[in-house]
Amino acid sequence: EWTMTSFAEEAVAAIREQVGDKKVILGLSGGVDSSVTGLLIHRAIGSNLTCIFVDNGLLRKNEMEKLKVSLRQHLRMNIRFVEASDLFLDALSGVADPERKRKIIGRIFMDVFEAEARKITDVEFLAQGTLYPDIIESVSPFGGPTAVIKSHHNVGGLPEKMQLKLVEPLKFLFKDEVRQLGEALGLDEELVWRQPFPGPGLAIRVLGEITRERLDVLREADAVLLEEIRKSGYYRKLWQSFAVLLPIKSVGVMGDQRTYENILAVRAVTSRDAMTADWARLPHDLLGTISNRIINEVKGVNRVVYDISSKPPATIEWE
Ligand code: XMP
Repeated sequence: EWTMTSFAEEAVAAIREQVGDKKVILGLSGGVDSSVTGLLIHRAIGSNLTCIFVDNGLLRKNEMEKLKVSLRQHLRMNIRFVEASDLFLDALSGVADPERKRKIIGRIFMDVFEAEARKITDVEFLAQGTLYPDIIESVSPFGGPTAVIKSHHNVGGLPEKMQLKLVEPLKFLFKDEVRQLGEALGLDEELVWRQPFPGPGLAIRVLGEITRERLDVLREADAVLLEEIRKSGYYRKLWQSFAVLLPIKSVGVMGDQRTYENILAVRAVTSRDAMTADWARLPHDLLGTISNRIINEVKGVNRVVYDISSKPPATIEWE
């Protein structure tokens, strides 16, 4: 604990030194990394930091509302919420390929973020919640970039375009250290312990083509899943736990009626840094409760399966 407190003091001093009295912008994702980044920089330079949160229509149930409460009340940061769901969902219509989805989402995010950033005068710095594993994953031991396994979504390109300098106060930390730092800084417990959530959001968990209806099915199922995982005490023990809506249907029976509905996959993994991951040995009774509740409560799902693949060779996400 004391190490993180002194790390925080040093980081705040370093940010002041780097940034001086200039303005900084930061994209908030709702996760712990960007929140802790925001908190540190806010401590260092107060209202010279502006945070931008983009609603891409691919968030989980009540996600933005919860974030608004946590951040506004506890951090008193300067945050702009930009509603851009239609832009994203319209552009994604008819797109099934995972990498195309990521590219579209990345491009629109950049456009929306840049337009918002340009409204703030005299910005000189862009802050990012880059962690140590993000750096080592994108650079080979020989200095060159490694093959891109998945094009990770961030604001790459913007610094050059807007001539911004980068502020990355977490770049030597692992996720568990970022959590300790968040605690030391007084960040909301719920935010500190938030499992990672990918930038492209639910878009890569509705496999194949995305529609608003399919997003809603996934959102409801995911909310039930997370509720049960939290209730069981497993939430903090898991690196990630989430639902995936598969692009095929299967036959079921309800009363004396045959059904032909969606299959939902449950994914839960343990990991330290996402480079490798093991599927979580969740109790069968917990899996049973999750399955029953989803099939009973979420219209459009008649079958739930559990993913027992580890990374590698599988990845954590399905797309
Ligand atoms: P995979 O699926 O490659 O995921 O094992 C490793 C970690 O990264 C997250 N992930 C992403 N995060 N943009 C992100 O910001 C992405 O495009 C993306 N793809 C995967 C994933 O949730 C896991 O934590």
